[in-house]
Amino acid sequence: MDLHFTPPAFRGKDRLITALDAAVGQGDAEGITHALQHTLRQAIHDPEIELPSCVHQPLQGRYARRELHRSTTLGYSVIAMCWGPGQGTPLHDHDAMWCVEGVWRGDLQVTPYALLEQRGPRWRFAAQPVLYGETGSAGSLIPPHEYHTLRNASSQDIAVSLHVYQGPMERSTVFDPLGDGWYQPRVQELDRDS
Ligand SMILES: [Fe+2]
Repeated sequence: MDLHFTPPAFRGKDRLITALDAAVGQGDAEGITHALQHTLRQAIHDPEIELPSCVHQPLQGRYARRELHRSTTLGYSVIAMCWGPGQGTPLHDHDAMWCVEGVWRGDLQVTPYALLEQRGPRWRFAAQPVLYGETGSAGSLIPPHEYHTLRNASSQDIAVSLHVYQGPMERSTVFDPLGDGWYQPRVQELDRDS
């Protein structure tokens, strides 16, 4: 962890953080994530909020993660992700934290997975119907219903999403497929791109 990391400044940042702070003050996970979805939908269409240009820069070979804010008082963190055409995640969890994701640009598809059983280091999942998120939409994940993949729905255009996590999101468990719906978990440290 780089203790000297300074998140990028951008136009409307104070306005966005004030709205996120108000939403995160809404009691339990259900109330917070509901309020955050509403806040993100409004923020995406707010002409006074302009995310820094870096969040629109894709990386070769994997999606990009840029941390925009970490609340010292409320604990949550805000990550912008840039998805090149077709880029996505493996099956993963959110380290037992709630998360709200808003689509800032482009279209994303989310595939939730239901955990069916665990046998030692082997976990069995079943993919659930794919959810499509177009620009301006927002959705949330509350543990234990946190297993999913996320993918840019376009094979030509980039997508940008904003993710608000309950805490610093520095690692998650990734599930490598073994076949027949079985997966093997592995802890992955998550990079922070500049
Ligand atoms: Fe995720």
